[in-house]
Amino acid sequence: MAAQVIDGKAIAAEVRAEVARDVKALQKSHDLTPGLAVVLVGEDPASQVYVRNKAAQTVETGMQSFEYKLPADTSEYDILALVQRLNANKNVNGILVQLPLPKHVNAEKVLNSIDPDKDVDGFHPTNVGRLWIGERALVPCTPTGSAILAKKVIPDLRGVNAVVIGRSNIVGKPMAALLLRESCTVTVAHSKTKDLPAVCRGADLLVAAVGIPEMVKRDWIKPGAVVIDVGINRITTPEGKNKLVGDVAYAECAEVAGAITPVPGGVGPMTIACLLQNTITAAKIQYNIKD
Ligand code: GUN
Repeated sequence: MAAQVIDGKAIAAEVRAEVARDVKALQKSHDLTPGLAVVLVGEDPASQVYVRNKAAQTVETGMQSFEYKLPADTSEYDILALVQRLNANKNVNGILVQLPLPKHVNAEKVLNSIDPDKDVDGFHPTNVGRLWIGERALVPCTPTGSAILAKKVIPDLRGVNAVVIGRSNIVGKPMAALLLRESCTVTVAHSKTKDLPAVCRGADLLVAAVGIPEMVKRDWIKPGAVVIDVGINRITTPEGKNKLVGDVAYAECAEVAGAITPVPGGVGPMTIACLLQNTITAAKIQYNIKD
């Protein structure tokens, strides 16, 4: 039987609608309109598109959007000074510095200078620690979106055997932490894992976040498993066409899986929706408002 297709576009729209409701509630209860500041350094075309989409969706949900577009040769000192001003600005509840930063800038230093309570990317070591020890944290957007999609098909994840392929700080590790928080039994697989197909076949929930086009094959999937594909890879087909594919060989895996996310239209649309949700969470943390 063909797998259920998990519609990330529709679920992201639901998350944005919830964010818009939260904005209205915060305006009413605390006279507070949350604000998100995005800092873009340089002219990377993909980053420009991301930043434009972020700003548009921020405004659509009723929040304030602050955009800072700086030339590629901006000094690290000036970027750090801007982050300090945003840290101190009461109208700014969330700060995102778009990556990649130019080579002359120490990205880690810049990201670590963001106030952890405004760190809507969830990359600051304080938030990483808070997530792992179960404190209220700002959690990276892509794993948060992936977990929301997984819970749409497995609402109670307790005891589920989850395999995460990939151990990046941005996706693999926080994904593992989130699934552990949901009481999954979590395996983190990576490039040194022995017999990766066999490890994946043990998964009721498989999350692929490796960045290798269509690496996960049909015979890696346990029949009925839920497959969340985080990969977004641009490939050229044998016919010479450009195409976006995930880390999962979609057509063949969809014949075995119980549910699967498509690429595009799966995890991708969830990322910005979760960024907006994080901006609400950040505002609530700053104003000591319970969820
Ligand atoms: N560039 C591409 N994706 C992201 C993201 O999620 N956060 C930041 N800060 N930069 C990015």
